Amino acid sequence: MNSRSYKIITFGCQMNEHDSEVISGMLTQRGYTEAAGEDMRNTDIVIINTCSIRENADKRFFGTLGQLKKIKLANPNFTVCVCGCMMQQEHITKKLRQSYPWVDVIFGTHNIHEFPDMLEEMFQRRSTGEEWTVNQIRSSREFRVDRVYRDSDRIVEGLPAKRLFGHKSFVNIMYGCNNFCTYCIVPYTRGREKSRRPEDIIAEVKALAADGVKEVTLLGQNVNSYRGVSADSGNEWDFADLIYALNEVEGLERIRFMTSHPKDLSDKLIAAFAECDKLCNYIHLPVQAGSSSVLRRMNRKYTREQYLELVRKLREAVPGIAISTDIIVGFPGETEEDFCETLSLAEEIQYDSAFTFLYSPRRGTPAADYENQIPEDVKHERFNRLVEVMNRGSKARNAAFVGRVCRVLVDGPDKKSSGILNGRTEEFKLVDFEGPEELIGSMVDVEITASNTFSLQGRIVSEQE
Ligand code: SAH
Ligand code: SF4
Ligand code: F3S
Repeated sequence: MNSRSYKIITFGCQMNEHDSEVISGMLTQRGYTEAAGEDMRNTDIVIINTCSIRENADKRFFGTLGQLKKIKLANPNFTVCVCGCMMQQEHITKKLRQSYPWVDVIFGTHNIHEFPDMLEEMFQRRSTGEEWTVNQIRSSREFRVDRVYRDSDRIVEGLPAKRLFGHKSFVNIMYGCNNFCTYCIVPYTRGREKSRRPEDIIAEVKALAADGVKEVTLLGQNVNSYRGVSADSGNEWDFADLIYALNEVEGLERIRFMTSHPKDLSDKLIAAFAECDKLCNYIHLPVQAGSSSVLRRMNRKYTREQYLELVRKLREAVPGIAISTDIIVGFPGETEEDFCETLSLAEEIQYDSAFTFLYSPRRGTPAADYENQIPEDVKHERFNRLVEVMNRGSKARNAAFVGRVCRVLVDGPDKKSSGILNGRTEEFKLVDFEGPEELIGSMVDVEITASNTFSLQGRIVSEQE
């Protein structure tokens, strides 16, 4: 019986979080146990699931590795595994191979399913070696198992996942990205787009619902370009077809998805919002910039006007729909006028919430080599101006909820105040309210009594289940 414990440190997006759930599921199946507590010294195996989206993510990874090295030097049996998007970048794996010989297992985004075998192979190699000395640890490459594939057109079905929550779950519907936005590393780290078969997705969602899951979030870098080939009929399903089918799953209450690229948002999907009662009134629709010339250089394939028209159509078809977005500030060549167009677009739309990012040049992407990189101080100054506008918008949108009664899926206890629960409305608004912990995982009606920029407060008016 395997008695080793593990801990996963996850950086990055929901895609990575879900991959970590799968890694956890596979390890649990093999008898490993998840370590309790934060102290990594009490764990046998640490797995770092990395992200390459911005430079900050890279820095945090190497910072964490530095801490782990100290533990490894004190305890040679401590095992360090690294995976995720950074492993798909050659300059990173080269650096790891040369300067971090004590890292035990290296795998990438395309061979997560191989990890438990790789880990066991490494233990096997290590067990045939001598008791380690510190010098051996420093050059222990010979025990390492290191396998990263550049890309793969294979989708591995049926992997177990250890879910973070009992009542809600991520479901991958596709992998990879074909869009090559000029700033973005994802197409290089996640490979070409591939869609799961609709039957596989529906079966997974049915099984989750049967297991008590009330809300699924369908994941893909651009779910609007989902094209799943049916195993039964050979027909191609688009994303809206999938939503209509999932809307019929018994026991499921809510469907969400991430992320939706404006260039492929179809009228059929907009109609699905209006017709499918389980599809939440919420869409994350990254705009990235408000200037058509910046959008063109970002290779986003839509203009400011087309984006505004989409928002108009969404709001007309689905009154009250909440809209959030991603915006990058300081893309190469962004002029003050370009930036003011982003501000005016944000003011016009009034987003419910937004993720705002400072442009971070990523090695290997076209924009990293563009001339006219924007100085950091200019980026920061624009960033602060944008955040102010965004926050004003969120505050106004949230204020409009006061007095309304919303159905809330209760996620858990508030981290700071005892007796307080947190949950989300279908518009993805975070609500705090008083209530007993037995309500976690159920739907309750909450009257909204107050609002601020990032959340709402309320009181329970009825328990639905
Ligand atoms: N597939 C999603 C985005 C995934 S990355 C989509 O297309 O909407 C999440 C966000 O990170 C992006 O929307 C973008 O705003 C931001 N981002 C990506 N690359 C970046 C970079 N090089 N610098 C700053 N922000 C970046
Ligand atoms: Fe990156 Fe663009 Fe693909 Fe999103 S759509 S993952 S921003 S390349
Ligand atoms: Fe990061 Fe990879 Fe997601 S680069 S944002 S973890 S797809």
